Amino acid sequence: MTNTAVWHAASEADTIRLAALLASWAEPGALLSLDGDLGAGKTRFSQAFAQAIGVQGVVNSPTFTIIKEYEGERMPFYHMDVYRLSVEEADDLGLDEYFFGKGVTIVEWASLIRELLPDERLEVYIEHLGDEARRITLKGIGALYEGWCGQLAEMGADKA
Ligand SMILES: Nc1ncnc2c1ncn2[C@@H]1O[C@H](COP(=O)(O)OP(=O)(O)O)[C@@H](O)[C@H]1O
Ligand SMILES: [Mg+2]
Repeated sequence: MTNTAVWHAASEADTIRLAALLASWAEPGALLSLDGDLGAGKTRFSQAFAQAIGVQGVVNSPTFTIIKEYEGERMPFYHMDVYRLSVEEADDLGLDEYFFGKGVTIVEWASLIRELLPDERLEVYIEHLGDEARRITLKGIGALYEGWCGQLAEMGADKA
């Protein structure tokens, strides 16, 4: 079963609001997979998410470091960017330790390593529509994430 929602962000603040909402629902072992073109806002979303789970300090793009671990007030935050990795290279990193660890994980460009991702996850797809306008399509796979999409729909988000 899956559930979907579409979040229409008219401004950067709207993206931050969505990230903070999802962070408030997140629990250890949760996974958000992010996709969307360069500059869509994957890293900006991740920064807002990190801040909302209580990560102090700066969250940079992990493009060159691949994986960064942060201490959050509520739980650790694992931030990945797999853009530069092949599936084989990603497989060698032992990502399951993060996916099934004590923290919450966000993977930028996650669709590139889809076969390595746990079945249950929230897929987030960000489209650049204009200046600050973004269409953010969310697809929940698994009961936890379907519930999140359901809650977003109740708040007025569209169905995909
Ligand atoms: N609605 C919005 N959501 C996210 N980012 C936005 C939005 N409006 C403007 N931006 C800007 O767009 C840029 C997105 O860059 P970034 O998050 O690094 O993209 P990506 O990680 O997808 O390549 C940032 O400079 C951010 O400030
Ligand atoms: Mg990025």
